[in-house]
Amino acid sequence: MSARVEPSPVDMPTGESPSTAPASAASASVVAPHDPQVVLEVRDLKTYFFTYDGIVRALDGVNLKVRRGETTGLVGETGCGKSVTAFSITRLIADPPGRIVSGSVRLGSANLLWGLEEEAKFRHDPKTDRVRVRRSFRRIKQANERMGAVRGRRIAMIFQEPSQAMNPVFSISNQISESLLLHRGIEIVDGMLGATLDDPAVDAACEALAEVIANDEPSRLRAACTAVGDAARLPSLGTELYHELRATSLGPEQVSKEIHAMVARRRLSAAERRYLLHRRRLMEADDRARAISMHEMEAGRREARARIAVNNSRRRERLSHFYYGLWGIRSRVRRPLERETFWRTVRLLEGVSIANPVQIARGYPHELSGGMLQRVMIAMALATDPDVLIADEPTTALDVTIQAQILELMRDLKERVGTAIVLITHDLAVIAEVADRVNVMYAGRIVESAPVRELFRRPLHPYSQGLLASIPHLDRPEKELASIPGSVPNLLRPPSGCRFHPRCAYAMPICSKEEPPVTSEGPGHTVACYLYKGPVATD
Ligand SMILES: Nc1ncnc2c1ncn2[C@@H]1O[C@H](COP(=O)(O)OP(=O)(O)O)[C@@H](O)[C@H]1O
Ligand code: SF4
Ligand SMILES: [Mg+2]
Repeated sequence: MSARVEPSPVDMPTGESPSTAPASAASASVVAPHDPQVVLEVRDLKTYFFTYDGIVRALDGVNLKVRRGETTGLVGETGCGKSVTAFSITRLIADPPGRIVSGSVRLGSANLLWGLEEEAKFRHDPKTDRVRVRRSFRRIKQANERMGAVRGRRIAMIFQEPSQAMNPVFSISNQISESLLLHRGIEIVDGMLGATLDDPAVDAACEALAEVIANDEPSRLRAACTAVGDAARLPSLGTELYHELRATSLGPEQVSKEIHAMVARRRLSAAERRYLLHRRRLMEADDRARAISMHEMEAGRREARARIAVNNSRRRERLSHFYYGLWGIRSRVRRPLERETFWRTVRLLEGVSIANPVQIARGYPHELSGGMLQRVMIAMALATDPDVLIADEPTTALDVTIQAQILELMRDLKERVGTAIVLITHDLAVIAEVADRVNVMYAGRIVESAPVRELFRRPLHPYSQGLLASIPHLDRPEKELASIPGSVPNLLRPPSGCRFHPRCAYAMPICSKEEPPVTSEGPGHTVACYLYKGPVATD
């Protein structure tokens, strides 16, 4: 336990002080039935930063729904809290100074904020007017462990600056391989152990491939290589053959030998097989720990005993093979696994339309352009087949032409892979290109939510109208672009009532007094503004 004392601004909410707020949604351990189409649901999310200047209310009651196979846009000016929303969902908020104060984030039936109210206690001292935050680091550590079951595997993220998300000292293939082994290790090892390299069908496919090369038929090369991989039940072998043989100038005899040598390299020695089985057991123990974590978040129950048992078995397993800790032995028996993950990486890079995937996989982050790195990041994010991909300003740092390519790629992936995407951007034009739904965010709140066509046709909130009016139109070059007066407020002392009122042309007396309710103004269209009188949205 540790205490941190920070000065608080005078407006520390007394009625809904953070010490009472978390009790609401986060502790609701019984899972309510939910729409199966909704993969991610954020409810009443509040994230504050406890700074020495006071409390920054970066998110103040954010509600968001992400549906299967849909792209959900989150748009707003810089400083509105879009990135903080993404980081809160993945629980990557730096703590201290940040802390998710209340709310729930549901991924399927699991509440990712489960146990939140146990992690910190807030106490407002009226004498000194300070807020004391007591963090339980044991609970925070447990929550972080639980998030290991989710981050990267079920929710993946890509960022504005891909170079900052990569480690400069490891090659691209190293970094993607690590993620592959962490999240799909068992599947990879099983694939290697189940390969049928000595099947006569493999020999036949190899001969057919040698013939294709001898007859110089490049258009059939890919299919012939894939056939070898399929016969051996090792698809990465097909990829390896294709890339290694593509530029070959060997004679028919040598080519056949070369192909057989490449297939032979994939055979496992007894020691390599033993090492793979050992790795598999470790991965299984890790998977069990993750499964328990998911179960905790789904059922809202504590499974600490089971976790201790799994951790003990994992430790025993590691120690029982101490000789794999010896660098010389490990580096030798690990080679087949490295070869397999390398060629799997190449396959992934092919999937995001990288033309020279082998060269890129061997390269280092600094050698690649921003657009290429962003593709690599997308490949890495999709390697684990996540339920949700959160893309925080994925195209902002890129040239316009590259932007278009990345957006095209995301659209294509949505259709091919079916991952739900949360697209965060300050640019409505990007939203128009890819999103199915739009959530307009202002100063830590969602002020309007609608299907994309509906929002562009009939923006209701004055802020959405302002954002739309500031997009240039090709067909109306003579029209002067409008801008919204003023700037995003400092969230240390956000305006009272509707946070947009100091900048709003339609502001009424009530706007500065009370926060407007969220009303429903058509199918799937909600808005938080006193100008609209629809029924209060219940969802
Ligand atoms: N580490 C931090 N400390 C204090 N305030 C922060 C911190 N990170 C973010 N904020 C506050 O959160 C608000 C939202 O930031 P952010 O989510 O990054 O905006 P954007 O919409 O541009 O992504 C900002 O106004 C900023 O004041
Ligand atoms: S609630 Fe009032 S201040 Fe806020 S956007 Fe609507 S009219 Fe403007
Ligand atoms: Mg941001």
